Amino acid sequence: MILALLNQKGGVGKTTLALAVAGEWAMQGRRVILVDADPQGSALDWSEMRAREGLPRLFSVIGLARDTLHREAPALARDADLVVIDGPPRVAGLMRSALLATDMVLIPVQPSPFDGWASAEMLALISEARIYRPELVARFVLNRCGARTVLARDTAETLADHDPPALASRIGQRIAFAAAAQSGRIVRELDHESVAAREISALAAEVAHLGSPRSAS
Ligand SMILES: Nc1ncnc2c1ncn2[C@@H]1O[C@H](COP(=O)(O)OP(=O)(O)O)[C@@H](O)[C@H]1O
Ligand SMILES: [Mg+2]
Repeated sequence: MILALLNQKGGVGKTTLALAVAGEWAMQGRRVILVDADPQGSALDWSEMRAREGLPRLFSVIGLARDTLHREAPALARDADLVVIDGPPRVAGLMRSALLATDMVLIPVQPSPFDGWASAEMLALISEARIYRPELVARFVLNRCGARTVLARDTAETLADHDPPALASRIGQRIAFAAAAQSGRIVRELDHESVAAREISALAAEVAHLGSPRSAS
């Protein structure tokens, strides 16, 4: 399966969640490749930091920030159980290519009851990709939720009502994510019983369920 974390907005958690989900699947013994499609290369930086810290390799990280991604990703997917694409900010050509490459797109957003969760441009790119890839699965993932995050009618149904819908799993605002990123680790390696680690396990499980042929709808 190919999973892409995309949002034209920067700082929403694309890299954080891409590394976390990739790490979770790798820890479960699956073969994972992370494609860093951001010219800034933050996932590559993480992997270099990890090597410098002398930590064992969890998954390979390759830099592929070009709009031929959709032609190159399928070959990678043949050698892996999961290919995770850490998406670029802003660049529409790269975004298009990533959307054509992927089976599932997760759009990290910081939830707010006041405005839409994604730019019109982002949603238009998803609609456009669906012309070629009608089976493309798209979900928002609510990231950096505060303890007091108030969403209008904060129920599972409301989340499912959005288009695209939001995953039931949410990720809180947790220092562990920044601490892990800075030391080339994933949150589970800092403390496998932390709330952050449990949230990521739940997220990875929901993604696996959604991506398995049995649950296709
Ligand atoms: N759930 C979270 N809790 C705390 N900090 C977070 C969380 N998600 C992301 N961050 C922090 O926010 C910043 C931006 O996240 P990042 O994943 O790099 O975003 P993007 O890749 O979308 O630009 C980073 O410093 C990261 O550590
Ligand atoms: Mg990033």
